[in-house]
Amino acid sequence: MSQNVLASATGVAGQAGRRRTFAVISHPDAGKSTMTEALALHARVIGQAGAVHGKGDRRGVVSDWMAMEQQRGISVTSAALQFSYRDTVINLLDTPGHADFSEDTYRVLTAVDSAVMLLDAAKGLEPQTLKLFEVCRQRQIPVMTFINKWDRPGHDALALMDEIEQRIGLKPTPLTWPVGIAGHFQGVIDRRTGVFTRMERSPGGADLAIEEEMDRAEAAQRYGADWETATEELDLLTMTGADHDQATFLAATSTPVLFGAAVANLGVRQLLNVLVELAPAATARPTATGADQPVDGAFSGFVFKIQANMNKAHRDQVAFMRICSGRFERGMIVKHGTTGKPFTTKYAQQIFGQGRDTIDEAFPGDVVGLVNATALGIGDTLYTDTPVQYPPLPSFPPEHFAVVRTNDTSAFKRFRRGIEQLDGEGVVQVLRSEQRGDQAPVLAAVGPMQFEVATYRLESEFGVQVQLDHLPYEVAARTDAAGREILRTESNVEVMTRVRDDALLALFPHRWRLRTVAGRHPDLRLDS
Ligand code: G4P
Repeated sequence: MSQNVLASATGVAGQAGRRRTFAVISHPDAGKSTMTEALALHARVIGQAGAVHGKGDRRGVVSDWMAMEQQRGISVTSAALQFSYRDTVINLLDTPGHADFSEDTYRVLTAVDSAVMLLDAAKGLEPQTLKLFEVCRQRQIPVMTFINKWDRPGHDALALMDEIEQRIGLKPTPLTWPVGIAGHFQGVIDRRTGVFTRMERSPGGADLAIEEEMDRAEAAQRYGADWETATEELDLLTMTGADHDQATFLAATSTPVLFGAAVANLGVRQLLNVLVELAPAATARPTATGADQPVDGAFSGFVFKIQANMNKAHRDQVAFMRICSGRFERGMIVKHGTTGKPFTTKYAQQIFGQGRDTIDEAFPGDVVGLVNATALGIGDTLYTDTPVQYPPLPSFPPEHFAVVRTNDTSAFKRFRRGIEQLDGEGVVQVLRSEQRGDQAPVLAAVGPMQFEVATYRLESEFGVQVQLDHLPYEVAARTDAAGREILRTESNVEVMTRVRDDALLALFPHRWRLRTVAGRHPDLRLDS
């Protein structure tokens, strides 16, 4: 795969400095898949094989590989795609594209160094966008914003800047500014150099856009009122101090903004340049003790995603590891932080969609798929020399609960195996309820879409038809053994054990019920 590209820089620190590991995040339909393809078109795809979902006559690189995803046109799982661009290695981590299916997205965000947020120019901030911005802020992930679909009528550019500032509290600092309102896109002015680039979609739109730097006086004459408006808006931006500031961008309090149209490849090159020039490289990472692990230290990485049966032809389980420090070499023996046991990395692959390439070496920022790594769990750390422990991945309080059963007694063993598998991958959280017993576990999810995925996979991969009965709870709070005893006296409350970590979760129908119960028992432990 990427040998020649990787070989050109020396030293682990040099290699890490060339890595940009990011995710494109957006509300469904804002253009994430289209942008992924446009980025791949501009860059040289190093580790991509097995295109499965092409738009028009482009190379398809989108990861909707499950039949269900294809049927529903959504992407429910994620992997990584690697490009090279201007001597930089770009790792694009794919995130699920459904508004409800967010737990997996959050985990992917633990493995990136920055994010590109796509906004649909006609829709502005949408619910999923707001949620994702919030997660990025909490995790201090620097975010670049790309206002997409500028080839179609949409909101006013300044109004969009206001919306970002007012509703998410991030200072927008446009790096490019459009000449021509949405739907009348002529090109962009680079705010740092003042250079105007005229842009035109290629005939058919599938190729790189036609771009031409144009003298400002000539542009003023040619674009008349559009040019005048753009330059007035630029003056306003300068007056309000909306200039790029690297320190606040890295601290996730400001967001550079670019304009374009992914479908026509407009503004995509500018975005790649910003990724190379401004987005953070793979760098020292905080460990659970608070100390930073330097990128050129001994090898370490953590598992942020587990996925089984990605490909029916392979029928295996893949653990996706983000490398944090050192050089990874296929076949090296690493230590599994959770068990202290050695783990051989003979089957290390780069995986995207149906495609798999063997990886021989990789560096901080890269993602490696470890095949048949059944001992590994989400959040586990791997290292070679000195033990390293990365902070546990965030776990989200579930808001949807359903009892899952199978009526087919001959399939019970497969049912159990399937439930264990889905729990291990974090597709759903599995709860044990005293009252229902082992035959009827309770599935808990952050978004209801997770139930659909679980049901689908139990049927398609384990051959088990299941029935889901939704439970009337919406809020979960951690409690303890004493709390469980107290809660036995309350109605409309149930305590269950989360199988993954033996945590006791008290389930309530709504938040005010939780408040009433908490008010009645001041000593009761309830952490939500
Ligand atoms: P997603 O992954 O975020 O869900 O979005 P996706 O890329 O699938 O894009 C959603 C729709 O928006 C697609 O149209 C896509 O072509 C369109 N789109 C994406 N970027 C742009 C853009 O810059 N300008 C315009 N005008 N449209 C854009 P569709 O009709 O749903 O699918 P298709 O038939 O075009 O593939």
